[in-house]
Amino acid sequence: MPPQGWSPAQLFKIVRTFPVRTIFDSLLHPLRRWYYDNWCATPAAGGRPVLRRPFGPVANEPLGDIVACHTGGLVPSNCVDLVAANGVLRLEVVAAGLIRLRLRRAGSDGFMPLFSYALDPGAEWPPVPFDLDDSPQVVTIRTTELVCTAVKSPCRLALYDAAGRLLSDDGAGLGFRGPGAFCTRRLAEGEPVYGLGEKAFDLNLRGRSLEMWNSDPGSYPPGRDPIYHSIPFLVSLHDGQAHGLFFDNPGRAHLDLGHTRPDLLSYEADTGELCVYLIGGPGIPDVLESYTRLTGRMPLPPRWALGYHQSRWSYSPEAEVRALAAELRRRRIPCDAIHLDIDHMDGFRIFTWDLSRFPDPPRLLAHLHEQGFHAVAIVDPGVKVDPGYAAHDEGLARGFFCKLPNGRPFRGPVWPGDCYFPDFTDPAVRAWWGELYRPLLEAGLDGFWNDMNEPAVFLGQTMPPYLVHDYDGRGACHGDIHNVYGLQMARASAEGLRRLRPNERVPLITRSAYAGVQRHALAWTGDNCSTWAHLRLGVSMCLNLGLSGVAFCGPDTGGFAGDCDGELLARWTQLGALTPFFRNHSAAGTRPQEPWAFGEPYESICRRWIELRYELLPYIYTAAWQAAQTGLPMMRPLALAFPTDRRTYSLDDQFLFGDALLAAPVGYPGQTRRRVYLPAGAWYNFWSGEACSGDIEAGAPLERMPVFVRAGSVVPLAPVVQHTGEWPPPALHLHIYPGDGESRLYEDDGHSLAYQAGESRLTRFTCELSGPASRRPSGFKMTVHRTVSGSFDPGYSHFDIHLHALPEPPRQVLIDGRPADTTFDAEQNTVRLAAGDWTRLEAGN
Ligand code: GLC
Repeated sequence: MPPQGWSPAQLFKIVRTFPVRTIFDSLLHPLRRWYYDNWCATPAAGGRPVLRRPFGPVANEPLGDIVACHTGGLVPSNCVDLVAANGVLRLEVVAAGLIRLRLRRAGSDGFMPLFSYALDPGAEWPPVPFDLDDSPQVVTIRTTELVCTAVKSPCRLALYDAAGRLLSDDGAGLGFRGPGAFCTRRLAEGEPVYGLGEKAFDLNLRGRSLEMWNSDPGSYPPGRDPIYHSIPFLVSLHDGQAHGLFFDNPGRAHLDLGHTRPDLLSYEADTGELCVYLIGGPGIPDVLESYTRLTGRMPLPPRWALGYHQSRWSYSPEAEVRALAAELRRRRIPCDAIHLDIDHMDGFRIFTWDLSRFPDPPRLLAHLHEQGFHAVAIVDPGVKVDPGYAAHDEGLARGFFCKLPNGRPFRGPVWPGDCYFPDFTDPAVRAWWGELYRPLLEAGLDGFWNDMNEPAVFLGQTMPPYLVHDYDGRGACHGDIHNVYGLQMARASAEGLRRLRPNERVPLITRSAYAGVQRHALAWTGDNCSTWAHLRLGVSMCLNLGLSGVAFCGPDTGGFAGDCDGELLARWTQLGALTPFFRNHSAAGTRPQEPWAFGEPYESICRRWIELRYELLPYIYTAAWQAAQTGLPMMRPLALAFPTDRRTYSLDDQFLFGDALLAAPVGYPGQTRRRVYLPAGAWYNFWSGEACSGDIEAGAPLERMPVFVRAGSVVPLAPVVQHTGEWPPPALHLHIYPGDGESRLYEDDGHSLAYQAGESRLTRFTCELSGPASRRPSGFKMTVHRTVSGSFDPGYSHFDIHLHALPEPPRQVLIDGRPADTTFDAEQNTVRLAAGDWTRLEAGN
């Protein structure tokens, strides 16, 4: 059976392009793997394997009753050790809203020093005061934000907020499970569950049974699990109060979210220790703020990375890249980045160029730069087994590749045939790997794309569990830490790029991930398919990625596997324009899907939406800055902003993009209207300015995806540009929608790290509306205050202000107390005026 989305003919077209060696090594791999499994899996070659996984059926061993509560002495000052028959449970107050829970077996030698790649090494955790109460039945820990109780017999944990509202209750205890551990929580009636990284399901994951094991499915149908990411962090809503749970274990784990028992959440790790973070709210943004304080936040991307990206497997040779660039500009389709897939390399050897197809990369890249494009190249982890090839020779000589227990490097086939796989858990390997980017940067590449880093191994799925890793000097076998391979590859790449370009933001994209990946890379949702089901799925997947700390993400617009068509591309481009990462990418052997591939009217529709993306860049850049500051996703489920409105809990065919916009994508062929739910408050139709609220039926002709604006918002737009090199714009457009609300606009140079030294500017707008909208008979008054902090000069000369949907044409508009010249567009019901540096705008009659 070909993987989902591919026709046998398409697969054949792809396989035909592979070198014979790739096919030969792939067919041989099962045999080699059998040899490895049976003869190389113990330290002395020739023995039988000792590290086989999985173990046979294992039973839960509960912790047992708590018999003692220890503090002081050898127990760190922010910890409480609860001693039970079968082990010790340590509760550690990390912050007032963050409690870490660790478990060790009875008889083991104390807790191991904490080590996790997920955690942000830069985070600081000053001690926080807490109260401890050890009564005969229950131990209680109380901070200013959380109360954690541990009933002693049987041991059961619960979490409350400071007001005593239950957030999370124990289900069936916690304890050990073979070489791993388990933990349970009770799920309340109607409690939705979100997050868990990249899951090919609806937004609300309640009722699912999920696995944490990074895998390359070779394109995936909706419902396939697991796929490329494992982020064992979830957030849920209990009576409108949010809390989060982060199960930090990089091995294989299973989460049952009410699938087997509707009221029980269970987590089972096959190996390793139980380390769970209990994170308080009260809102989802608060949980995400704590979670991303713990695991880090995305770096601010360069502005160009938020523009439109055009990709295909593969634009090659050079003439095709040049023709693509010329076509984008000729057709006036704005674009900032062109991606080079695997065919730019010499026989798929990473960090090389195929000089027969790309004879002069610096010249080509300079040509792209002249036209305002950036170039992004793919880098896979597998280093071709090929004596004489520099990365191979050096990596092998320095012992940098993942090893079998007998000390020999593991080899497995990927694109070039057999490869060795760098051990990114070794700091020396990471330093070496980072340096390999130097010639690529010097040639002129601007960004990179780490792929196949689960890691994928053809006809073997991934690396065997008994491979040995350095694990930063601690030693670990692959099966116990599999899910951090892609994270560590992204880290090695990002750290190298930061060293090589200390004052530039070089974006990195990753396919595989574990918790904390947002510190290093943005993510795309891998090999989706050109189907309507995948267009819809992309929304819920990105919403859950955002709720897992990965704010900068997006699916392949138009779909990767299979053939797209004009209508699907038009609708997907509309959606892509309002997702954080906007890249059109498709597989070899499929129909071309550039914005013009299907002729008119699709080309004009795609152009218009890509233009809109560019108009929205000041707004989108601000949303990216918010994510970088606080972990708030750029693309948000309605439940994040309206947590007490149960109707939003499973709503994933519409979403919020930034603070002001609500998008309602069209997910079915032929659909020209759709139902939209506008939660509490007033909203405006982005296209007509019409006020609306509640349940509505929105018109969605092919050229228009319904978009709404929250009342009281100021949406900053730029004029259309062909690429972000045409920045700054001459003027910034401020679109103001009546109501009460606050908006922000963040600005800096868009590419360097000068913002970290204060070269930035934050503008706050507060809108107030009084008058007919609030039933005052005396006319209306709309006031907007603008306050600016920071010294950065954004470079435009003035603002074009658009006052939308005022209750009636204002008799006068004052800017800082002086009457302004205005024009009134009766059809759009919009007042327009120009202003320089202003602080107060008043419109009324
Ligand atoms: C993988 C990637 C895909 C890429 C292809 C060739 O399938 O997910 O995006 O185009 O490899 O490199």
